[in-house]
Amino acid sequence: MLETEKMTYWYTTASDYLFKDVDLRFEPGRSYAIVGQSGTGKTTMVSLLAGLDAPKAGKIKIAGQDIAKMGLGAYRRRQVSVVFQAFNLFTYMSALENLMTAMAITKSSRRGDQEFSRDMLRRLGLTDEQMTQNVQRLSGGQQQRVAIARTMVCDAPLVVADEPLGTWTRPTRMR
Ligand SMILES: Nc1ncnc2c1ncn2[C@@H]1O[C@H](COP(=O)(O)OP(=O)(O)O)[C@@H](O)[C@H]1O
Ligand SMILES: [Mg+2]
Repeated sequence: MLETEKMTYWYTTASDYLFKDVDLRFEPGRSYAIVGQSGTGKTTMVSLLAGLDAPKAGKIKIAGQDIAKMGLGAYRRRQVSVVFQAFNLFTYMSALENLMTAMAITKSSRRGDQEFSRDMLRRLGLTDEQMTQNVQRLSGGQQQRVAIARTMVCDAPLVVADEPLGTWTRPTRMR
């Protein structure tokens, strides 16, 4: 179980907080959606739950253990896998290489198992040809599926995803 205990967060001033004394419980084996209008703090919540940033006050616990005590680096390597809004794939690699690299970095129990990665990418709708070409040649939706496949080949018990139902498009400059 993942829990927050009196989690408090602000960016610039304490009085202008995004969260104050928030208690949440996320049970194993379930999916949860965090819903809110633009600018209400969903991405910030994802960053905190993924251990990319620390709350100003309060705790986040996984299986009863405070992630700050465990170390956020160890938490990110062993416990959590993230689908970022911008996918954050290695852009100079293929989809297959992205999965193989993530498994190596996180010391996944299936690291080195190329057939396992290929199977996962196939299950998410990529052809053998698509998975071996540079990821930048894939569409936004396909890149998002690679990012999802990447979470599935790592052993992390927790997956946190930012805007997983939309396709991120690079912001265009206003004229
Ligand atoms: N690095 C930052 N520094 C200061 N303010 C930020 C930063 N990141 C986000 N914010 C502000 O925090 C609020 C919540 O942002 P965010 O978590 O991205 O919301 P959402 O994902 O729900 O759209 C917004 O008002 C945003 O402007
Ligand atoms: Mg957001």
